[in-house]
Amino acid sequence: MNGFETILYEKNDGIARVTLNRPHALNAFSVQMRDDLYEVLSAIRADDEVRVVVFQGAGEKAFCAGADLKEFLTAPSVVKARRIRAVRDLWRLFLGTSQPMVAALHGYVLGSGFEIALFCDLRIASADVVFGLPEVGLGILPGAGGTQTLPRILGLAGALDMLLTGRRLNGQEALAMGLVNQLVPRDRLAQEVDAVAQKIASCDPVAVQNAKRAVIKGMDMSLEQGLDLEWRLAAATKG
Ligand code: COA
Repeated sequence: MNGFETILYEKNDGIARVTLNRPHALNAFSVQMRDDLYEVLSAIRADDEVRVVVFQGAGEKAFCAGADLKEFLTAPSVVKARRIRAVRDLWRLFLGTSQPMVAALHGYVLGSGFEIALFCDLRIASADVVFGLPEVGLGILPGAGGTQTLPRILGLAGALDMLLTGRRLNGQEALAMGLVNQLVPRDRLAQEVDAVAQKIASCDPVAVQNAKRAVIKGMDMSLEQGLDLEWRLAAATKG
């Protein structure tokens, strides 16, 4: 599966790798990128060979600098945009992907780029990383789940600070606040991400996916419901 305009796709030994590939525009998230991601993620979800997915950005400067602002100025009407979104709801696709997803983050991780990272289960960043949600400053809202995913990861105070003030976080701040799992030197990012992906890919895929499901679904349940879910998934996991 390849030939995408805005992303690269590779699959080796159970590890799928999706590279946002518009380095000339700091991998800005365009309508074409949304369509390409929708297609690749749909295929990944249906592919039993894929045990873990890595998202990364091409080029030296950014994982993704957010929505494509040049395209934004010529965007379709709000009604048309909503219709496209309803037909191809990429964010729900991210949310419902059963394989673990790991974000390899370097440079600018802004707006929808940050929101893609928030949908991932693990975030590994290099020391040059900069996180931010510039949307409110541009008179818009984060439209890729950020108002919901960020407080679940960062807590209410940190999320509101980033959302309302546009405050940017550097790598050390992100590590201290629990936004990233690991902070590594830039030249070790690929290796460290590979090591984590290989570790996940070496485990039993049913156990891995059920563990993910228990945690993600359980977050929105009462403790009692969550314990029921865990019990059912544990029973379904025993081979
Ligand atoms: N949409 C479209 N193009 C973008 C982009 C975006 N979000 N972010 C960067 N680019 C393009 C620039 O226009 C520039 O293209 P050019 O060389 O054809 O002029 C290229 O990427 C390099 O960006 P540049 O601004 O020169 O790099 P920088 O290192 O000086 O600044 C940023 C980096 C991230 C601080 C700056 O690009 C920026 O603020 N981008 C917009 C971030 C944003 O508000 N995103 C929207 C979130 S909703």
